[in-house]
Amino acid sequence: MSMIEVQNLGMRFGGVVALASVNFAIKTKEHCCVIGPNGAGKSTFFKCLTGQLKPTDGDVVFKGKSIRGYQPHQIAQMGIGIKTQVPNVFDGLTVDENIQVALRRHYSGAALRARLDEMLETMHLVDLRNEIVGKLAHGHRQLVELAMVVGPSPELILLDEPAAGMTKSESNRLAGLIKELARNHSVIVVEHDMQFIRLIGGRVTVFNRGEVLVDDHVDQVLNDQRVKNVYLGKQAAF
Ligand SMILES: Nc1ncnc2c1ncn2[C@@H]1O[C@H](COP(=O)(O)OP(=O)(O)OP(=O)(O)O)[C@@H](O)[C@H]1O
Ligand SMILES: [Mg+2]
Repeated sequence: MSMIEVQNLGMRFGGVVALASVNFAIKTKEHCCVIGPNGAGKSTFFKCLTGQLKPTDGDVVFKGKSIRGYQPHQIAQMGIGIKTQVPNVFDGLTVDENIQVALRRHYSGAALRARLDEMLETMHLVDLRNEIVGKLAHGHRQLVELAMVVGPSPELILLDEPAAGMTKSESNRLAGLIKELARNHSVIVVEHDMQFIRLIGGRVTVFNRGEVLVDDHVDQVLNDQRVKNVYLGKQAAF
């Protein structure tokens, strides 16, 4: 059975067709990268999977059940976690406090402290745990948010441009972390950086103008002429 199955998904904003008719599925413990030029519909696709947006057509079935009619917090409780494109952290709180906010709904007492320590280690944030998040570099803020998303251990993890603002070595480490996460979760990653996509490897789904253009192994996708064409004149480096 698929972890999530997207059926003929459509999303219109007035006259703008952000998603035309998207079909997509991902299995348990499968990972996939989603690429595509600016405005292709990648973030809109994610928002339809989390209930932030109500699709105008089609359906999203998570673990065999339609998420239609459920609120974002209910969908999160079902097991879908998202790191949105715009960082969603509390700038006035410390790294520790931010992660605790995310964990508190799922853990308490010693279990919470243990999971907090585990997340700080996984994200290499131990030395920064008492720093105010608003003062951190963008790459570190991304890791704090990742800890907040991954901490409650959602079965499906959606990451919208998680490497944005990271240095080369930070993003290399993040790619390793994502592969590690994908051993026990289903993970979908939206990214623009082709080097990062290659590091993650595996399956790549290409969006263009609200449709799935190609869905294949990374080696096939990055050599596909249709994919090269949609990136012509764009800054993506193959
Ligand atoms: N809330 C909204 N209201 C109106 N139009 C929107 C809204 N959100 C997205 N759009 C439009 O839908 C299309 C898809 O946008 P989306 O943000 O999903 O693209 P994207 O692939 O994530 O792009 P990027 O790579 O720049 O993040 C664009 O034309 C965008 O302008
Ligand atoms: Mg986007």
